[in-house]
Amino acid sequence: MIKTSITGMSFHVPEHIVTNADLEEMMDTSDEWIRTRSGIQERRWVKEGEGASDLSIIASESAMANAGVKSSDIDMVIAATVSSDYYFPGVAVQLQEKMGMDTIGAFDLRVGCSAFIYGLSVADQFIKTGQCKTILLVGTDVLSTVLEKDPIGRDVGVLFGDGAGAVILQPSENDSGVLSTHMHSDGKYMKELWVELPGSKFKDRGFSNELMEQRRHRLFMNGREVFRHAVKRFPEVIQEALDVNNLTLNDIAQIIPHQANRRITEAVAKRMGVGTDLIYSNIHRYGNTTAATIPIAMCEAFEEGKFSAGDHIILAAFGSGFTWASAAIKW
Ligand code: ACO
Repeated sequence: MIKTSITGMSFHVPEHIVTNADLEEMMDTSDEWIRTRSGIQERRWVKEGEGASDLSIIASESAMANAGVKSSDIDMVIAATVSSDYYFPGVAVQLQEKMGMDTIGAFDLRVGCSAFIYGLSVADQFIKTGQCKTILLVGTDVLSTVLEKDPIGRDVGVLFGDGAGAVILQPSENDSGVLSTHMHSDGKYMKELWVELPGSKFKDRGFSNELMEQRRHRLFMNGREVFRHAVKRFPEVIQEALDVNNLTLNDIAQIIPHQANRRITEAVAKRMGVGTDLIYSNIHRYGNTTAATIPIAMCEAFEEGKFSAGDHIILAAFGSGFTWASAAIKW
C-alpha cells in the first residue's frame, strides 16, 4: 500500500504582533488573566485588507520550495479554513489562480480547528489510491476580523490569532508516511462554538442592523463546555491512533495537538499520564490560530528537533462542530 509522505512544510504569520499588554488597552483584561487561563503571551493579527489567502500563498510557496516542487507539479489544492477571504468561493481557488497552477481540483474544508487533520485524511485517500501525486494542503484562519476588540468580546477576543501553515503531500518512497487518520463529530454541540452569520437561513444572509446589533455575526464560545469535551476527546482520539497502529505512548516522539489553550493541553497530559514535554505547545507565541495551529506547530517542533526521520508522531485536534480528529505519522 502506498503511504502519504509530508515532503515539504512551512508557515506564515502576519507581521503585526499583538501582546497581552496591547489587549489590556482594548478589552478590560489583564496579562495575568490571559496567561493563567490560556498560556498565551502574544498573537499575530492581519492588517486591514490582508486575508487568509495572502497568508496561505506565502506559506504555500515556502512549503513548495521546501519540498522542491513547482506550481505545475501540484495536482490538488485543499484549504482547511473557516476564514475564506469572501463568502464564496473559498481560499483554494485563489491559491490555484494566484500561484499559476493548472486547472486542477481546488476546494475548501470548513471544519474549524479539526480541519487540517480532516484535510490530511482526504488528501491521504487520493495519494494512496494513486489518483494524485502532489497535493498542497493549507491550514489557515483569520479570526481577528470577527472578534470584538472591546470588553464585551474579551472572553474569546484574547484567545485567537491569525496564521497559515502548508504541507506538500506525495507518495512515500519507503515505509514512512501517514499510518492512519481518524475523524469524528457530534453536531448537537454546534452552538457551543460557532459564528451564526452570514447564514442561508436568513434574509440577505442576515446582514441587517437588528441581527448585527444582537452580535449574531460574532464568534460565540461556551468556554466551559469546550473545555469539558476537549479534555475527553483529545485523549480518546490520540488513543485511537495508537491502538490502530499497535503503538504505545512510549513509541511516540511528539504529540502535536491543536493549540486551543495551554490549560487544555495540560489537562490532556495529566489524563494520559504523560509529561507536558511530550505534547508540543507554542500557543504562547501565536494564540489559537484555528486550522493553522497544527501545521505551524509541526514546523516549529521539527525545527526544534522534537522529532526527526523514523520517529512516530501523533497529530490531534478538537474544535467547532464539535469535531475531533487524529493522525499517526511515521516521519
Ligand atoms: N479578561 C479578564 N476577565 C475575563 C476575560 C478576559 N479576557 N474573559 C472573561 N473574564 C471574566 C469573566 O467575565 C468572569 O468574570 P465574573 O466571575 O466576574 O463573571 C471571569 O473572568 C471568569 O470567567 P470564566 O468563564 O468562569 O473563566 P474560566 O475560569 O472558566 O475560564 C476560559 C474561561 C479560559 C474560556 C475557560 O472556560 C477555558 O479554558 N475554556 C476552554 C475554551 C478554549 O480555550 N477554547 C479555545 C478556542 S476553541 C478551540 O480551539 C477548540
